[in-house]
Amino acid sequence: MIDFPKDRIIVALDVAARKQALELVDTLEEGSFFKVGAQLFSEVGPSLLDELRKRDKRVFLDLKFHDIPNTVAGAVRAATRRGVQMLTVHAAGGEAMLRAAREAAGPEGPDVVAVTLLTSLVSEDVEQVFGRSPVSLVDEVVRLAGLAVAAQLPGVVASPTEVKSIKRSYGDVLKVVTPGIRLPGDDPADQSRYATPADAARAGANFIVVGRSITAAKDPAAAFEAVAQSFATGRNPEA
Ligand code: C5P
Repeated sequence: MIDFPKDRIIVALDVAARKQALELVDTLEEGSFFKVGAQLFSEVGPSLLDELRKRDKRVFLDLKFHDIPNTVAGAVRAATRRGVQMLTVHAAGGEAMLRAAREAAGPEGPDVVAVTLLTSLVSEDVEQVFGRSPVSLVDEVVRLAGLAVAAQLPGVVASPTEVKSIKRSYGDVLKVVTPGIRLPGDDPADQSRYATPADAARAGANFIVVGRSITAAKDPAAAFEAVAQSFATGRNPEA
């Protein structure tokens, strides 16, 4: 179990090269959990996961698996052998796929967390993809989170605006991993639904994923500290 708030801050290594990724990791001495997503993984390959492990860092492998259960199980077993602590699958892959992922991870393996709806989707996209009348996105997120519960997954990924609704429906059965985090005064860039670390903490987020607020800061280590303070205390730092 992770008990310390700093261990619940996942820094997104959204860079395109091994050297940049490892420089960031080495700069952020206090950071213990790092997200490797599809871009960096495709550029650098799985050996990066070994290098992070050698540095005693935890890895959140965000490749959002979505395939037939047998294929996803194989991918999860491979990631488990690489020692990742957390990985993502799409809830829309269905309950059998989610169960296969959890079973492949095993009791000692990574936490398999489900992506409900991508935050880039709007109501009309959901209608087009799932063939139903426009729905409330948050209701759809809560419904899809229910699939994760049915498959006994330990958590889901959700935007700051969805955390409360998920916690209201499922309580502590589901850990919520929340991207879209900004320190007060930061550029929101392409995030339309975002919150401060303090707001995410108060909404009940168990983990926050923070990219540019730390990685694009003039002093990433100081920004990490500001995020950690805000997340731990639930109070926003001065902008
Ligand atoms: O730089 P920023 O803090 O916006 O980065 C957020 C990270 O979280 C990125 O790696 C992004 O891919 C990821 N993410 C997100 N929204 C989601 C799921 C993942 O921003 N719904």
